[in-house]
Amino acid sequence: MSTQSHYENHLAAFYAWMSGNFEAKQQEQQDWFSSRGVLPQGNKTAIDLGAGHGLQSVSLAKLGFTVFAVDFNQHLLSELNARAKGLPIRTVLADLKNVPQYATEAELITCMGDTLTHLDSVETVQGLIGKWYELLPAGGRLALSFRDLTEELFGEQRFIPVRADDQRIHTCFLEYYPGYVRVYDQLLEKVNGEWIQKVSSYQKLRMGTGLVKEMLTAAGFRVQHHDVIARMQYILAEK
Ligand SMILES: C[S@@+](CC[C@H](N)C(=O)[O-])C[C@H]1O[C@@H](n2cnc3c(N)ncnc32)[C@H](O)[C@@H]1O
Repeated sequence: MSTQSHYENHLAAFYAWMSGNFEAKQQEQQDWFSSRGVLPQGNKTAIDLGAGHGLQSVSLAKLGFTVFAVDFNQHLLSELNARAKGLPIRTVLADLKNVPQYATEAELITCMGDTLTHLDSVETVQGLIGKWYELLPAGGRLALSFRDLTEELFGEQRFIPVRADDQRIHTCFLEYYPGYVRVYDQLLEKVNGEWIQKVSSYQKLRMGTGLVKEMLTAAGFRVQHHDVIARMQYILAEK
């Protein structure tokens, strides 16, 4: 199944529940932006790629950016719109690989929350980093956050409990291949007192943090900050 179908047919419907408390998660993102000086300085415009239900878009808007929130999933963009009331956020239904569909003058581009690993190859990521570099003005910044999946998990370590309550249980199962991981999202949902299982899977890229930094440098960026928070690699780079 393609990543887009996986979200459309499975994950989007319970993504917000899976992510947990929106306000708390959103505040974590806002705090990281603030701590790293990601504040409006130029034309105050940001493009948030793979925006999902809005953890980064809402944070950036609260910090004073006008945000173009790009995602190929309408369900998640509708949830974002519902949260964005009164905030300067415009949603764009587009594939982030299709740069002309969202190309606009912006001082900041973000691609966060492990969206980068959803792309189909390292070459695609490299090509996009080059295009984002072209889109930004001198001094413009690119913020990435992703999981470094290069280290393999074995045996029972590959079963990751994500979230559970009285009505739903979400578990991820990981299958490792050279260059990518197949991620199975298993959802058990209680319907009329019975547990119903739904399973769907998609691929994630195994990209080392070092490789991502090399691609940024090769494109012309300077890596300003690298943080690891809850096993997520956060990189801020400047043109
Ligand atoms: C793991 S979620 C991250 C969402 C959000 N940034 C967060 O931190 O919660 C990945 C998001 O990227 C979107 N996505 C994945 N590949 C995409 C693509 N090629 N074009 C547009 N959106 C994409 C998915 O629909 C999903 O909303």
